Amino acid sequence: MNVQSDVNIGLVGHVDHGKTTLTKALSGIWTDTHSEETKRGISIRLGYADIEFRKCPECGEPECYTTDDKCPICGSETELIRKVSFVDAPGHETLMATMLSGAAIMDGAVLVIAANETCPQPQTKEHLMALDVIGVKDVIVVQNKIDIVSKERAIESYNEIKEFVKGTCAEDALIIPVSAQQGANVDILIEAMLKQIQPPERNVDDTALMHVARSFDINKPGSGADKIKGGVIGGTLIQGKFKLGDTIEIRPGPTNDGKRMTLTSEIIGLEANGEQVEEIGPGGLVGIATKLDPSLTKSDSLSGTVAGEEGTLPDVLDSFKMDANLLDRVVGTKEERDVAPIKLKEPLMINCGTTTTIGVVTSTKKNDVEVTLKLPVCASPGDRVALSRRVGARWRLIGYGIIK
Ligand code: GTP
Repeated sequence: MNVQSDVNIGLVGHVDHGKTTLTKALSGIWTDTHSEETKRGISIRLGYADIEFRKCPECGEPECYTTDDKCPICGSETELIRKVSFVDAPGHETLMATMLSGAAIMDGAVLVIAANETCPQPQTKEHLMALDVIGVKDVIVVQNKIDIVSKERAIESYNEIKEFVKGTCAEDALIIPVSAQQGANVDILIEAMLKQIQPPERNVDDTALMHVARSFDINKPGSGADKIKGGVIGGTLIQGKFKLGDTIEIRPGPTNDGKRMTLTSEIIGLEANGEQVEEIGPGGLVGIATKLDPSLTKSDSLSGTVAGEEGTLPDVLDSFKMDANLLDRVVGTKEERDVAPIKLKEPLMINCGTTTTIGVVTSTKKNDVEVTLKLPVCASPGDRVALSRRVGARWRLIGYGIIK
């Protein structure tokens, strides 16, 4: 079996509803690793974990589903069914831009809703709307923290969830009661993810195109000049393949003399699921080691860029026209209000792939909207972008646009 994951599954939902705990229950990996995240007890950045879905050949469904090599019930050796990359999105309302960047690389999603709070909480609604806007269709609902509610509250919470998902992309989604903390019903959740979230069709013969979601300087402080390693980028290929030795281009690069550069380098290492490989294709989160100056890649400075084969990347746009489609209501706050039409000169937060930028509206006629961007994007006509507007002190999702 390919070492690469077949599918990226997002974990989304309101702050503290248990996304990181669920990732841990599935993978053994605690994705909140930044000191600030540990201190504040919330996720700030996207978390990532590679997980293997396995099946015990001896046990019946759903008990046979596990992520362990050995069956926790009978001890038999389990069989690998699918490799999956998890993207754990932060639930705090100030971190919608991060959630939207994550949604761009999700093939399907698990919406985590805590049963001990009334549904919907503001970001439960905003995250589901974001999945709808970005076009993530395969959604499963986890009704979490089932261990701390009464049977009556569990049924009431189920009814609230059923009512809330009406008319959304999760209308027919399975709702699975889970205790992420106790590991209860995790087998049923694995079975549902295997059956309901299918790997999308991938165009491996097309030219390679990757959404860069993070970038690093992997050198230890004080490394000697002869030991310095080149910059590393991480993300997901949406089409095509990269091989060791290929030339890679990354856009938009930093500015030089007022002009945006395209970074060019050689691929000197490829990593998928923690293994070094010779070739990577679409699916899962992958890492690419380059010969770039690591100061260019440190602290996610290239996240939001696009990487591709030499001479094939889309244009870098400083402005674009789009067909804008607005939601009826601004969600994400306790008091909801109607979405007013887009106004001339208003700043919009635009999420395009894994990029977040601000676009100032320079013309607007019905759905035809033109924006000038503070940070340029590398995108093509037909690409879908998420649109947010400043409401009070926060950016709120108001709809999407299709670049013309
Ligand atoms: P953000 O990423 O910051 O949005 O939070 P999160 O959704 O990842 O929540 P997290 O996993 O950090 O859990 C929040 C709190 O809920 C922690 O104290 C967990 O221990 C607790 N928790 C999570 N799942 C369960 C559960 O199934 N049962 C109980 N009792 N507590 C849980």
